[in-house]
Amino acid sequence: MAITVEKPEADGLGEAVDALRDWQREGSAWQLHPGDLGWFWQFGAEATAAAVRIWRRDGRILAVGLLDGADLLRMTTAPDARRDEELARQVVEDVIAPERGVLPLGRVSVETPKDTLIRDLLPGHGWHIDEPWTPLSRALSEPVKAPDLRIEVAGPEQAAVRAAVQRAAFDGSKFSEERWHAMASSVPYADARCLVAYDDSDNAVAMVTVWSAGPGKPGLLEPMGVHRDHRGHGHGRAITVAAAAALQELGSSSALVYTPSSNVAAVTTYESGGFQALPEVRDLARDA
Ligand SMILES: CC(C)(COP(=O)(O)OP(=O)(O)OC[C@H]1O[C@@H](n2cnc3c(N)ncnc32)[C@H](O)[C@@H]1OP(=O)(O)O)[C@@H](O)C(=O)NCCC(=O)NCCS
Repeated sequence: MAITVEKPEADGLGEAVDALRDWQREGSAWQLHPGDLGWFWQFGAEATAAAVRIWRRDGRILAVGLLDGADLLRMTTAPDARRDEELARQVVEDVIAPERGVLPLGRVSVETPKDTLIRDLLPGHGWHIDEPWTPLSRALSEPVKAPDLRIEVAGPEQAAVRAAVQRAAFDGSKFSEERWHAMASSVPYADARCLVAYDDSDNAVAMVTVWSAGPGKPGLLEPMGVHRDHRGHGHGRAITVAAAAALQELGSSSALVYTPSSNVAAVTTYESGGFQALPEVRDLARDA
């Protein structure tokens, strides 16, 4: 049976999310998480569907990709399809031929787990290694001690505060209340929580969104940030620990996060929150 690639309709996204949930497991190489789709959902279900790519054989989903911005395809495969030669050849053909519409024209990077055959094949087509990212993980087998800061779950009533802290944490962020509601309406958000931290003067100082992939599976932090006026007081560490505690409550086996290695403040903050850096991962890039 040939492998096909498709862009799902919005009502077909649940199937891609289910596949991604199913594929998460402890000890597996860093890979696209259902929370990444949930985070992207801030742009709406239609936009998320337009950004998702699904590869199938005989109806079964073998790989899922998310075009995360104009120039990055993040993708992963079913655990038993990592070395599937037919799949790898098809994915490579799809991403190197812009006329197929799987990837846009110009400079593009592809993120795929390090044990996929796709990673071995792409460099033969002129793709090169891109900037390093650091995945970090915190095991949740031991109870996580709650941080010494007031942390609240942010629901619809706190969407404006949650969005404002994010804009204050990330330069150029346009995250809004509307985007929060779009994100919170996503399929993966059923297993997610937004947390906001408040200091002694009741300022909202930090936020995080955590995404469970179901009990016994790694959960994801995306995004995490501290208000630029309130940095350097341990709030980054506190919200990171709170994120781990929230994922533990949701049944996750570990908490995972991913950041460019150049973001030293973030890597240090996660380590300070009990996360351990895993070997760096690098995307493969094609210049324009
Ligand atoms: C990264 C960030 C969350 C840190 O927040 P913070 O409240 O200042 O961090 P903390 O005060 O809790 O510091 C935690 C640790 O990181 C270290 N750290 C913080 N900023 C640092 C910097 N710019 N350079 C080096 N180390 C830094 C602290 O020294 C501390 O280390 P220690 O525990 O070993 O003493 C904040 O800078 C931020 O929001 N950045 C923009 C958003 C972002 O990059 N988010 C993460 C990626 S998703």
